[in-house]
Amino acid sequence: MPTNEIKKVACVGAGIIGSSWATNFILKGYPVCLYDTGQKQLDNAKKSVINNLTILQKNALITQQTAAEAENLITYTMNMEEAVQAVQFIQESGPENYEIKQNILDSMEKFTSSETIIASSTSGLLITEIAKFSAHPERCIGAHPYNPPHIIPLVEITKGDKTSPEAVKCACDFYVRLGKEPIVLQKESLGFIANRLQMGLFREAVDLVTRGVCSVEDIDKAVTFGPGLRWALLGPNLIFQLAGGHQGIRGSSLHMNPSAEKWLADMAKWDKFPDGWPDVAQTGVDNEMANRSVEFGKTNDEIIQFRDQGLFEILKYHKKM
Ligand SMILES: NC(=O)c1ccc[n+]([C@@H]2O[C@H](COP(=O)([O-])OP(=O)(O)OC[C@H]3O[C@@H](n4cnc5c(N)ncnc54)[C@H](O)[C@@H]3O)[C@@H](O)[C@H]2O)c1
Repeated sequence: MPTNEIKKVACVGAGIIGSSWATNFILKGYPVCLYDTGQKQLDNAKKSVINNLTILQKNALITQQTAAEAENLITYTMNMEEAVQAVQFIQESGPENYEIKQNILDSMEKFTSSETIIASSTSGLLITEIAKFSAHPERCIGAHPYNPPHIIPLVEITKGDKTSPEAVKCACDFYVRLGKEPIVLQKESLGFIANRLQMGLFREAVDLVTRGVCSVEDIDKAVTFGPGLRWALLGPNLIFQLAGGHQGIRGSSLHMNPSAEKWLADMAKWDKFPDGWPDVAQTGVDNEMANRSVEFGKTNDEIIQFRDQGLFEILKYHKKM
């Protein structure tokens, strides 16, 4: 289906991710029907969507009129038929469980056209398995956002063994229209791309603390005031390109690899977290939070606010806001 035939969207599952996706779609002018199984979940989703719009407005990223127009584009329902019957794109954000996602897919398919693209927000499940009993698995894709999807541009697109190239292209083009940065995985891979990168770094962080090299707080300082500043702007390959001067990444590899291979031999390779790590991590983070200034936030809620305002500035620099 050509992307310009997408006129209306359904978000199935209205939790943290579903309500954030809905915010993204309505802000780009798409009418959205947001479905969940209970009135309480829908009431909470409505609050989240309004809160998302209010924060964007408070930060002068959208006008009051845009917020009001966006809010008018959304409807809430517990009736699956009403949610999906006349839409061309469905973003499924139900619980992360094969059986539940298979059942949701089955109930959506009863009321959708065979052309409708069904994109699952799954964080790590295989589309082949989710779409195992689907009547039209060719239109099923994975579209893993980074939380919160209405702010963070990345979407990792995954294919099942029956997903059609046309469905992938349609979804990618659609996400680009929404201001996202889709990346298509050429093979199924547990944890996709970004979470694997994140976990590779985190394993080394845990290892350094466990070995007594530094504290939990030092790890966060090292990332926040060092490479994290550059990573917000450039990926690791471009960073090594610049590190090599006129010789580029080839030059920096030749220069750095003999030494880096010695560190690599010494770095963490385990696949089971050390016993007691959650308690060590929590004690370290509690200490770090107590040491933060009031200005930068000391509680989870205050730090979320600090984070989101910083993200807005970075995204403006990337021309994504
Ligand atoms: N939270 C994150 O950081 C994050 C990030 C990326 C992707 N994801 C993925 O997004 C999906 C949703 O995660 P979440 O964090 O929003 O979870 P959540 O628990 O906040 O929301 C899930 C929603 O699904 C609803 N639900 C339950 N059964 C349903 C059914 N049969 N039909 C429709 N809806 C149903 C629940 O009532 C709930 O509102 C998961 O697949 C998760 O892995 C989460």
